[in-house]
Amino acid sequence: MDHPVDLDLATLHPAVDDPALNSMNFLNEVAGHWPDAVSLAAGRPYEEFFDDDAPGRWLDRFRRHLADDLGQQPEQVRRTLFQYGRTKGIIHHLIARNLAVDEDVHVDDEAVVVTVGCQEAMLLVLRALRAGPSDVLLAVAPTYVGLTGAARLVDLPVRPVAGGPTGIDLADLRIQLRRARGEGLRPRACYVMPDFANPSGTSMPVVDRRRLLDLAAEEDLLLIEDNPYGLFPAGDADRRPTLKALDTRRRVVYLGSFAKTVLPGARIGYLVADQRVAGADGAVGLFADQLAKIKSMVTVNTSPLAQAVIGGALLEHGCSLVAANRRERAAYTRNRDHLLAGLRQRFPAGSPVRWNAPAGGFFVVVTVPFPVDDALLRRSAERYGVLWTPMAHFYDDGRPVDALRLSVSAVTPEQIDLGLDRLAALITDELARLPAAPSGDR
Ligand SMILES: Cc1ncc(COP(=O)(O)O)c(C=O)c1O
Repeated sequence: MDHPVDLDLATLHPAVDDPALNSMNFLNEVAGHWPDAVSLAAGRPYEEFFDDDAPGRWLDRFRRHLADDLGQQPEQVRRTLFQYGRTKGIIHHLIARNLAVDEDVHVDDEAVVVTVGCQEAMLLVLRALRAGPSDVLLAVAPTYVGLTGAARLVDLPVRPVAGGPTGIDLADLRIQLRRARGEGLRPRACYVMPDFANPSGTSMPVVDRRRLLDLAAEEDLLLIEDNPYGLFPAGDADRRPTLKALDTRRRVVYLGSFAKTVLPGARIGYLVADQRVAGADGAVGLFADQLAKIKSMVTVNTSPLAQAVIGGALLEHGCSLVAANRRERAAYTRNRDHLLAGLRQRFPAGSPVRWNAPAGGFFVVVTVPFPVDDALLRRSAERYGVLWTPMAHFYDDGRPVDALRLSVSAVTPEQIDLGLDRLAALITDELARLPAAPSGDR
């Protein structure tokens, strides 16, 4: 007779049953189960601007670049696009130019590795840094769940650093570093998102960026800077320099993504790792080359066709994505303003409901006087028809969290109105269920 099961979950890598890896599945499952619910959950780019003709045009543009600018013969062009290819990618030079034009970041093309989304870039960096059981990663909390999940896959513990309203509490970073070292652990890096962080929405002031870089140099710490939302400040505010642009001591490994700025379906991201690595024989190479060795065993190389689409988009816009995203930036600003006005209207002064007003990006965090968990999200989807993300998904300690993340990126103002009406109904009902405060507290 057949054994009822073939594999025991407990015998698989512990990551597969970890809350961090279950998070995206759970959120997708809820969204799939209630497809008619208004989604203020998804951190996806606005779909109305997707252009059916663009990928073909971009592919063609890149093909011409290979022939006309790089002098490739037709059979070479075909090989570049259709064959297995260079591990570090075929649009590294365009990405380096994009960083120079848009971010004033100047790096050698060879320091760039093109990856299958930014997600692969995280995995490669964390895999390389996790050399032994005493290695740990510091990460600003709340933390993007994709980072926590990638760390789990490589058995790298993540220790939280307080984020606070300005993106990182530098005093806490120092405390956490000392504490970890005091326990005999080796903090390998600190993961930060200085611009419009996911999920907190916070941004670091420039002065804090400089202090963070100084601290990293003093403490011999690497910084992993993740920047998918930097092109989307609200209104006409200036963009702040990235950590990498201020990094004169090669302390920063920079992670980029074209998912929000060009096309998520292409699944193209990249990393910049210009750190010099010394081998046992005294030879010095780039960290990017060590990461490429890992990549060669994870995805071999990033799809050249997908790279060509992104490469063509970069070429079409003179390697600048700032102007190319003007419409998107305006839409996200409009939606952010609409959401904040809608929250003010539905939760006037005196309401116990609070929220932040991020200077850009996709996300706003709403704080309420009761725990916000997965059961509440299910109830919200089923009875109220609105989806959002429990902030508990972005903390790694399982403690109750009284906040939720709203995303403004993939909705219209009308959907925001409907979603907020439904969210307000849910919150009103939850507030009514709270035990009355003792009269002395009023
Ligand atoms: C902070 C952050 N980093 C990385 C990613 C993943 O980017 P990609 O789609 O390029 O893998 C996301 C996606 O939402 C994100 O929010």
